[in-house]
Amino acid sequence: MEVVITGESGRVAAEALAVHLRPGAVLGLATGSSPLPVYAELLRRQRNAEVSFDGVRGFTLDEYIGLPRRHPQSYHSVIRRELTDPAGFPVDGPDGEADDIPAEAARYEAAIAEAGGIDVQLLGIGTDGHIGFNEPGSSLASRTRVKTLTPQTRADNARFFASPDEVPVHVLTQGLGTILEARHLVMIATGAGKADAVAAAVEGPVSASCPASVLQLHPHVTVVVDEEAAARLVHADYYRFASAHKPSWQSW
Ligand code: F6R
Repeated sequence: MEVVITGESGRVAAEALAVHLRPGAVLGLATGSSPLPVYAELLRRQRNAEVSFDGVRGFTLDEYIGLPRRHPQSYHSVIRRELTDPAGFPVDGPDGEADDIPAEAARYEAAIAEAGGIDVQLLGIGTDGHIGFNEPGSSLASRTRVKTLTPQTRADNARFFASPDEVPVHVLTQGLGTILEARHLVMIATGAGKADAVAAAVEGPVSASCPASVLQLHPHVTVVVDEEAAARLVHADYYRFASAHKPSWQSW
């Protein structure tokens, strides 16, 4: 696991994604606040002709169940608005309006497999340690399925809705086992509110109590955090030392 503590988390995470861009590349895309600077930076690079999304495909990571796809806060709407429409590449994702949710979960997993798997998956982390919407207690081997949001996650996400009651209770999310199949995982976290979750994910025991700790089992993970989100990391100085001595030939 490579932990990068930086004042430019959006730029660094964008760089880690950009190295994968080529025709046929498959991007896994998270929503929420954390990825927004990453998407803004990727679009800036596209405008400057530094990157191209030609032939790229995307998959959203998760979706609210029961929220119409056209709702501005559906993850389908968010990802199209923030990245894939302006960048000009197609995106698939779990359909939270599907009548048969287990069948939709199976369709989504099959679509990822048919695309050849995800080359790079961008992740945020919840204050309770979730990735995707795998809340504490999620099986470390789980596949795409319905999950019930914790009251804490619903409260955290209430800022996107007119009232807290509007935050859906259920979601369709890639499982932890599904996430682990992406070839490269890039997790971004910013702000003091994420410091405990980041420390548990990176340095705590691997446990379903902190679903993001499953990242410790993956051979290629890049964790990009700002100083506030890094505040509880015991080995922060070592991570800074390793970043300062990153071999020039080593990519993300
Ligand atoms: C969103 C997702 C979630 C968020 C997490 C952090 O697609 O999968 O795991 O990444 O809830 O959200 P923010 O970035 O809004 O703090």
